[in-house]
Amino acid sequence: MCDFDEPDLFTDESLIDDPHPYYDRLRGKCPVQIEPHHGVAAVTGYDEAVAVFRDHSGYSSVNAVTGPFPGLPFEPEGDDIGALIEKYRDHFPMNEHLVTLDRPQHTAHRALLRKLLTPRRLQENEAFMRRLADRQIDEFFERGRCELMGDYAKPFSLLVIADLLGVPEEDHRSFRAQLAGGSAPLENGEVPIANPLEFLEERFTAYVEDRRREPREDVLTSLATARFPDGTLPEVAEVVRVACFLFAAGQDTTARLLTSAFRIIADRPDLQRLLRDERDRVPVFVEETLRMESPVKSGFRLARTPTTLGGVDVAPGTTVMVLNGAVNRDPARFECPHEFRVDRPNVREHLAFGRGVHSCPGGPLARIEARVSIERFLDRTSDITVSEARHGAPGDRRYSYEPTYILRGLNELHLEFAPVPES
Ligand code: HEM
Repeated sequence: MCDFDEPDLFTDESLIDDPHPYYDRLRGKCPVQIEPHHGVAAVTGYDEAVAVFRDHSGYSSVNAVTGPFPGLPFEPEGDDIGALIEKYRDHFPMNEHLVTLDRPQHTAHRALLRKLLTPRRLQENEAFMRRLADRQIDEFFERGRCELMGDYAKPFSLLVIADLLGVPEEDHRSFRAQLAGGSAPLENGEVPIANPLEFLEERFTAYVEDRRREPREDVLTSLATARFPDGTLPEVAEVVRVACFLFAAGQDTTARLLTSAFRIIADRPDLQRLLRDERDRVPVFVEETLRMESPVKSGFRLARTPTTLGGVDVAPGTTVMVLNGAVNRDPARFECPHEFRVDRPNVREHLAFGRGVHSCPGGPLARIEARVSIERFLDRTSDITVSEARHGAPGDRRYSYEPTYILRGLNELHLEFAPVPES
């Protein structure tokens, strides 16, 4: 039995900037450990993580987002707590969202997304992304510098989802002002409201009701009229919930992928040169960024039945924490895991998007967002560097990472670049 003798994974600030030495130490002792602070089974091994993601009867997703907080609403009893989970499901935070549902409800709700994420829709969305990337770069192009997170990554990832859902372009300005802040003042006197979820719910309720009343040839109509696999039409609130959740799941994660990718491009002139010379390497570069800097640090499951994981007995009622960032650097799966390699043959095996029935449906979209952004920045600049004034000289960089156990990413990234005038 291996014990943690050290920091609390959920709160210790020393794990924020670089958690990997600690993850390595944990994995070195045992790829699954019951940590003493919250009784959570922490998974740092790749094979063990895949086993958790694939075992939908052994593990429930009911606590996928909140993990061990705020505690179970019941006392686990017996060898199968499945019935207790169902009885108390509505006591779990975020229980109404796709990510926390289990079969069969999960299968039915996930089907609502099917029409939105078709290859054709992604193609149309990519065309929008190119226009959007240029529009956003235009905002700071002449300055030759930007703070990538606020000036680009957040509004970009937000408006891509808005477009995916078919939000009319004339409404994008208010979406940006309400949900991404930054430099997009509202022209119509609209005041940003305190609760972004309230804004989204209001807008999407209006869109869905409107399209159900008067269907059109547009994406919002597909969303509004999508049916469950048994042919029934969801309540308006159920459709609205799916739409709102896409913003919650897809904006911050992708914004973090973008900032990590540009941090590496700006910090590694050799890689930047390679990508400039060989654009077809960009997709693999994005995969390796996802592996090295997995934007989702951890995800959770609740053990329903007794299981054995990596040789450790996991009792029903135990919260299992899969540390995606750690499993993506498991040396048993990835050779020299701490090296950034653009020629890594098995890079696509990373688990940054999870695995199994809950694996991220937005993965293809996030990959295109990163590729298009990198391509447009490389096309429109001749040199991208990290601001030494803001982050220090090479070899002595100072970056600040978001202090959470959920997401891995920079708070801000100040870049400088040499603009290339349009020919
Ligand atoms: C780099 C960007 C992204 C990363 C790293 C990421 C990561 C993940 C992971 C790890 C999961 C699995 C959660 C689990 O197993 O409990 C997930 C689920 C999900 N993601 Fe993403 N995601 C990203 C972008 C997006 C985007 C752009 C969208 C939508 C437009 C999206 C929508 C969702 C949804 C709806 C789920 C829940 C799926 C389900 O439970 O069936 N994600 N994501």
